Amino acid sequence: MPDEDRTMLFRNATLATMQAGRPYGLVPGGALLIDAGRIVWVGQDHDLPSGYDGPEENLDGRVVTPALIDCHTHVVHGGNRSAEFEMRLQGASYEEVARAGGGILSTVKATREASEETLLRGALRFVDALIAEGVCTLEVKSGYGLDIDTELKMLRVARSIARVRDIRIKTSFLGAHAVPPEFKGNTLAYVSEICIPGLIAAQAEGLVDAVDAFCEGIAFSPEELEPLFAQARALDLPVKLHAEQLSQLGGTRLAARFGALSADHLEYATAEDARALAQSGSVAVLLPGAFYTLRETRLPPVEAFRAEGVPMALATDCNPGSSPMASLLLTMNMGCTLFRLTPEEALAGVTRHAARALGLDDCGVIAAGTRADLAIWDIEHPAELAYRIGYNPLWRRIFGGTA
Ligand code: NIG
Ligand code: FE
Repeated sequence: MPDEDRTMLFRNATLATMQAGRPYGLVPGGALLIDAGRIVWVGQDHDLPSGYDGPEENLDGRVVTPALIDCHTHVVHGGNRSAEFEMRLQGASYEEVARAGGGILSTVKATREASEETLLRGALRFVDALIAEGVCTLEVKSGYGLDIDTELKMLRVARSIARVRDIRIKTSFLGAHAVPPEFKGNTLAYVSEICIPGLIAAQAEGLVDAVDAFCEGIAFSPEELEPLFAQARALDLPVKLHAEQLSQLGGTRLAARFGALSADHLEYATAEDARALAQSGSVAVLLPGAFYTLRETRLPPVEAFRAEGVPMALATDCNPGSSPMASLLLTMNMGCTLFRLTPEEALAGVTRHAARALGLDDCGVIAAGTRADLAIWDIEHPAELAYRIGYNPLWRRIFGGTA
């Protein structure tokens, strides 16, 4: 666990602060002073205030970035869907598999049957892979329970990750992920009898940081989600939304109307949707792992997001179906190669903009006053993080000031 009293001075670092002003907020020949888990001074080595006589370390020019943030994951789930992977390789589409009772619902069955211990052990496989890449903040969704008890079980497991690993967890209640078999054809009843009371119960236990939903033909329409988002507002919880992934249904505009922290996926979003997100100040969370896995061809409107000034985040979407991926470095590479983001946009997408997608303002940049959550890389330039494939140059991860 972090040692809150520890001071440390890093010198001779290449700081990618990710602060606005210059590319990557780059500070060559940089120094960084940490005290009590926070960054207290950042600047050029030769400007260091005198008087510090604590421990220090020479980083030999290594690149220091804010620790990475994975702002969209489903790491807590039972079972796996490799059989479905084979079905899709033989030509079945994601929607066909879902409509045949596979997809999300097959993970629901496995998750309902799993104990909290089994779910935690399963999640830690992916959490540890992400930690090894310098991740210090992780969002985790429910959504494979679809009954109140199992949704709460998933969220308890998500919270417990932060008790067994040095990582910050933000949870999202995703009761409206799919309609379970017992409510088939009765979507509104599912929302009012399970999602809304489940959300209220989860909030009462302190298990929820945000409310998410899946707006799609195989899931929920914007109209069906309105009462859930109204309940989120009544509980003072921010919303997020899986929107415009496989078709254009108006989810992004619903999210914008509720001042969402983010709208996620967005392959079918339009220029008008981009304008709505700009007005609501929401982040566009792009998920190239799902795009890749489902062999999508329709690209999210990156150019429109840029033109409207919509911040773009990138996340793994680590889940057993549409994105069985536990690498944020690979996500950055895919964001560049598949979506044509620049390496700088990719890094902002897993730091500064990912923090904003979670409603956090104390991480995601290197600045005095923020948490000392840092990743130190054995590279010469931050563009290398998005450039290589299947190679992890992390040299050291610092969580709350402690390695
Ligand atoms: O983010 N789009 C909906 N939910 C997940 C997929 C979940 C699954 O297939 O198990 C996603 O892609
Ligand atoms: Fe997702």
